[in-house]
Amino acid sequence: MSAALRCDKAPSWAKLQAHYDSKGRSLDLREAFASDAGRFTALSQEAPHVFGDLSKNLIDAPTEALLMTLARECGLEAHRAAMFAGEHINNTEDRAVLHTLLRAPADASSTDDKLRDVHTTLDAMLKYADQVRADHTITDVVNIGIGGSDLGPQMAVLALEAFVARGKRFHFVSNVDGHELAGVLKGLAPEHTMFLIASKTFTTAETMTNAISAKRWFEQSSRLDVSKHFAALTTNVKAAKDFGIDTTFGFWDWVGGRYSLWSAIGLPIALAIGSDGFRRLLAGAHAMDEHFRTAPLEQNLPVRLGLLDVWYRNFHRFTSRSIAPYHSALKRVPAYLQQLEMESNGKQVDADGQPLPYGTSPVLWGEPGTNGQHAYFQMLHQGTDVTPLEFVAVRDASHDLEGHHNKLLANALAQAQALMQGKADAGGHKNFPGNRPSTFFVFEKLTPEALGAFLAMYEHRVFTSGALWGINSFDQWGVELGKVLAKDIEPRLASGDTSGLDASTAGLLERLRPV
Ligand code: F6P
Repeated sequence: MSAALRCDKAPSWAKLQAHYDSKGRSLDLREAFASDAGRFTALSQEAPHVFGDLSKNLIDAPTEALLMTLARECGLEAHRAAMFAGEHINNTEDRAVLHTLLRAPADASSTDDKLRDVHTTLDAMLKYADQVRADHTITDVVNIGIGGSDLGPQMAVLALEAFVARGKRFHFVSNVDGHELAGVLKGLAPEHTMFLIASKTFTTAETMTNAISAKRWFEQSSRLDVSKHFAALTTNVKAAKDFGIDTTFGFWDWVGGRYSLWSAIGLPIALAIGSDGFRRLLAGAHAMDEHFRTAPLEQNLPVRLGLLDVWYRNFHRFTSRSIAPYHSALKRVPAYLQQLEMESNGKQVDADGQPLPYGTSPVLWGEPGTNGQHAYFQMLHQGTDVTPLEFVAVRDASHDLEGHHNKLLANALAQAQALMQGKADAGGHKNFPGNRPSTFFVFEKLTPEALGAFLAMYEHRVFTSGALWGINSFDQWGVELGKVLAKDIEPRLASGDTSGLDASTAGLLERLRPV
């Protein structure tokens, strides 16, 4: 790992604690705004396609200055350079971390083989996408994949629905629960369907189970050629071939699953919004990569956010963060970001395997506004825990229904205002403590560029907090144990063998066994 120091070993760590104890913990947002006319300007940040207002957070200039020093002491810049240079910062899997290369523009003069391979595959995949888009016999596209091979494409196809060509329906099957696949298959005709089997490893149990069932359904309900209706998106070309798929778009081990929507895994997105749309998504992400790579830390939106996350998690000790996209097309963004942040930074040891004495990933959760307002915002306003909230609002609507959009935006602004200001004049049950922090993101329009930039911003924010925490944000060993145990339990459901199981698992297995 190239981070010079873990955050708790850096000199500024103790200074931040002292600053928190003396002033930081009691910062009052209302007073901070009243005493500093420049607060909004100083604590907001323009970045490509995304404007971020951090001014309603429990920070001020001295706090940010200390956090910046901490970042420098920890070697954040060197770690960032190491990622972009392709060093094996995913040390436990001995891999580079180069999802940024997937969005780098083609450069004929470059000698980088990886960049050339990226563009060769991208060009082939986009050509295929445009062909399938033009093929009006294909009306349904079914993506079979899970985790990073599902959440990104699913979220983006929905988010960019205003750009999706009519005439094709998109389905996402991820769960091994057969109800999901059966429900989708019910509405399909094989001759009009294209299946995409999306799996980095092409071994994931859920995806393989669904892929086998989909192929069986296809072969039983038609005499059509599997190879014309199935394509694979994977790093494991051989396994896809053995499965009987000829059309494969590959990617590489240096693309993590949760960072893979920019690779061949993004084919459903390209099918939905076309090759131009997909290139615009990549361009937006690339613009944010450049911002992250080159802007001084003090004016670097992902860095400022990542440092705020460290301040909240380790000094205020907030355990969760909520996100409320005020745009219904961004419905699946919270689920996507959950994997991005919690699979990346939900770690208890540092990159060298040493136990960490401080908290890492917060719980990330949320629903679109205004829906959340009528469900759990009660707790955000009056609960005993403070949960920083993130608003995402889009200036221009992509519908023309009168009155709706201003109502929506007014609600986002009002909620952020209410959280901060509170209302002390009515006591007891009607008291709002206020001083509750929030961040507010604005896009001018929900375009492929804006979405790409926003997602890249989040990736780099997670990188920043992960780097300070000294963890490897790019492995996910925590998903392994359950997979192994499920393999042991599955045959027991058929045989009834409970030997060696704990009493609870044995008792539940008995109840769940088919009668
Ligand atoms: O189980 C977790 C995980 O490994 C994720 O990291 C990944 O996105 C998902 O499974 C799917 O993996 P694959 O693309 O190899 O099927």
